Amino acid sequence: MASTSRNATRALRTALRQLSQPRVQQRTFAVAANASRPSVQKLATSAFVQQTRGKKTVDFAGDKEVVYERDDWPRDKILDYFKNDTLALIGYGSQGHGQGLNLRDNGLNVIIGVRKDGASWKEAQQDGWVPGKNLFEVEEAIKKGSIVMNLLSDSAQSSTWDKIKPLLTKDKTLYFSHGFSAVFKDITKVEPPTDIDVILVAPKGSGRTVRTLFREGRGINSSFAVFQDVTGKAEEKAVALGVAIGSGYLYKTTFQKEVYSDLYGERGCLMGGIHGMFLAQYEVLRENGHSPSEAFNETVEEATQSLYPLIGQNGMDYMYAACSTTARRGAIDWSSRFKETLKPLFADLYKSVKDGKETERAMEYGGRPDYREAFEKEMEEIRGMEIWRAGKAVRSLRPENQ
Ligand SMILES: NC(=O)c1ccc[n+]([C@@H]2O[C@H](COP(=O)([O-])OP(=O)(O)OC[C@H]3O[C@@H](n4cnc5c(N)ncnc54)[C@H](OP(=O)(O)O)[C@@H]3O)[C@@H](O)[C@H]2O)c1
Repeated sequence: MASTSRNATRALRTALRQLSQPRVQQRTFAVAANASRPSVQKLATSAFVQQTRGKKTVDFAGDKEVVYERDDWPRDKILDYFKNDTLALIGYGSQGHGQGLNLRDNGLNVIIGVRKDGASWKEAQQDGWVPGKNLFEVEEAIKKGSIVMNLLSDSAQSSTWDKIKPLLTKDKTLYFSHGFSAVFKDITKVEPPTDIDVILVAPKGSGRTVRTLFREGRGINSSFAVFQDVTGKAEEKAVALGVAIGSGYLYKTTFQKEVYSDLYGERGCLMGGIHGMFLAQYEVLRENGHSPSEAFNETVEEATQSLYPLIGQNGMDYMYAACSTTARRGAIDWSSRFKETLKPLFADLYKSVKDGKETERAMEYGGRPDYREAFEKEMEEIRGMEIWRAGKAVRSLRPENQ
């Protein structure tokens, strides 16, 4: 099982790398901006309230919020705005890869900083970053950069901070993609110098999606925030960088709201909660004599292949309306019972995020020298669960996999 999955991961990496070859690297803002127009028009007929160029007030269910979009930052303007800057992107994980390649394709002066003995150094070289030219060790890259984009893992942002902080001299800008380090400073010890701008742009998705959407001429939704505005330009810089890394729409937030909602969401409906629901439903079906394929189809396959995409396209009512009267009646009745049962658990989760327990756990785990091996062991356990083994067999029978 493990080797099959590693092969799949390797194949995926290779495919992504092939996709990142120069042949299509010319795709830039012009294409991206054009591709964004239909959704802009859609907004204009629905929730759109008022617009100054590139900035809109949108009515989200009665709450009016400001949203920025890339039309106000065409490529020439971005290049001019950052013409004197060196973007030092520190860390080359999922976000470093996606944001770094998008910045490079957009023609910005970007360099990568990673440790020489780590996996990221090799991966960066495979993506065409050249040692001594635009690939350096972390501290050297920070010295060269005017905008330091800290995309190390959240626990590494803390463990390396003592070395990084003295290099963040006046006139540099510090950028994050998560509010984690700065908001939980009592735990992480990451306290930015007070004389520099500190901003964040947090793509609402994996760095791989940041890259693929950019290459398709689309843009990922991101949130952005200002932690410290010394120059009076911090917000403008965050929006410009957000567009430059490949965002389509940018939602304004604060560091604190970004980190609370992000840690909460990924532990809840986005990942942990949904896995827990899948397991609970599957186990009850199996305990009542249903076969693995039946239990999997009724729990995961129909959800991901048929019903959840309908919610994504047009909302919950659209999904309900697409189902039978019988299904709809039962689902609506039971949804309130699930909500009442689960809400206290979500309240506990939010509290655990807010009081720093989740941060402590992430720091402790991510800081272990063997954290990659430990995660791989857990992934192996998940792959080995009956539900996911059944899923593999079910997926192999999908028409497109025949
Ligand atoms: N992934 C996402 O979906 C996502 C989405 C939005 C925001 N974010 C945020 O983006 C930031 C980066 O996340 P990520 O997922 O891209 O990266 P990640 O996988 O969490 O971190 C990977 C990078 O950290 C480096 N690193 C780890 N320990 C280190 C150490 N002790 N010293 C030096 N470097 C070390 C790794 O280098 P080696 O290869 O050398 O170990 C690698 O380059 C985080 O703040 C995260 O919360 C992530």
